Amino acid sequence: MKVGILGSGDVARTLGTGFIASGHEVQLGTGHPDRPELAEWLVHAGPKGSIGSFADAASYGEVVVVATRGVAAAEAIRAAGISRFDGKVVLDVTNPLDVVPGGPPRLAPNPSGSNGEAIQALLPTARVVKAFNIIGHPHMYHPTFPGGPPDMYICGNDAAAKETVGRILAQFGWPSVIDVGGIEGARELEALCILWVKSGLALDNWDIAFRLLRK
Ligand SMILES: NC(=O)c1ccc[n+]([C@@H]2O[C@H](COP(=O)([O-])OP(=O)(O)OC[C@H]3O[C@@H](n4cnc5c(N)ncnc54)[C@H](OP(=O)(O)O)[C@@H]3O)[C@@H](O)[C@H]2O)c1
Repeated sequence: MKVGILGSGDVARTLGTGFIASGHEVQLGTGHPDRPELAEWLVHAGPKGSIGSFADAASYGEVVVVATRGVAAAEAIRAAGISRFDGKVVLDVTNPLDVVPGGPPRLAPNPSGSNGEAIQALLPTARVVKAFNIIGHPHMYHPTFPGGPPDMYICGNDAAAKETVGRILAQFGWPSVIDVGGIEGARELEALCILWVKSGLALDNWDIAFRLLRK
């Protein structure tokens, strides 16, 4: 699969490396292609990795990942060009955070209810699935925890798109996927990010992940 990733930060590069390790080809989209960490990423990625503009990455991807700063996701998507997402699976990993000096972030006010819903509204012909937003980037690919693999929560309106994301998650070492329904579930998934940060602060431990006990 060809995967376009909007973004060049820690998450974009980590997911990009994970997709390549899973046999896919990846293009990262950025407005700053000369950043040194991208040159380093390219060397590591080898021939299956490339860098382009936001528009290039959106055109390139059969699946397009939105991995920009959360509150800038709409701006990056508009820069990429709305029509470039037509019919595609769009994997939204963003959290729209308001940075609060001296304290944990909060969710930025969002008239759509969540970034997942805002992205789906901006891209009505795309099939948006929210995933990966509830885990720190060092554990996005093949997480290993003493209690076994964590759970990944996903949501989205299109069943086939969620199946595609489920297969990606399996390749990334996430065998347990909890599908909480339509894209409006992004409200809870994005709130979980804040809970994750507050848990990290309370425990002074960032190697943490969610797992639901069941019998
Ligand atoms: N860090 C984590 O562990 C983690 C975990 C789960 C989810 N997330 C979410 O994943 C997303 C990416 O996180 P990150 O830490 O990798 O990176 P980040 O620092 O939140 O975002 C960096 C990316 O945002 C783009 N960007 C910033 N302002 C922009 C604007 N005005 N217009 C267009 N693009 C803009 C940058 O573009 P350029 O490439 O042009 O610089 C860059 O690619 C965020 O939404 C974050 O909340 C992060």
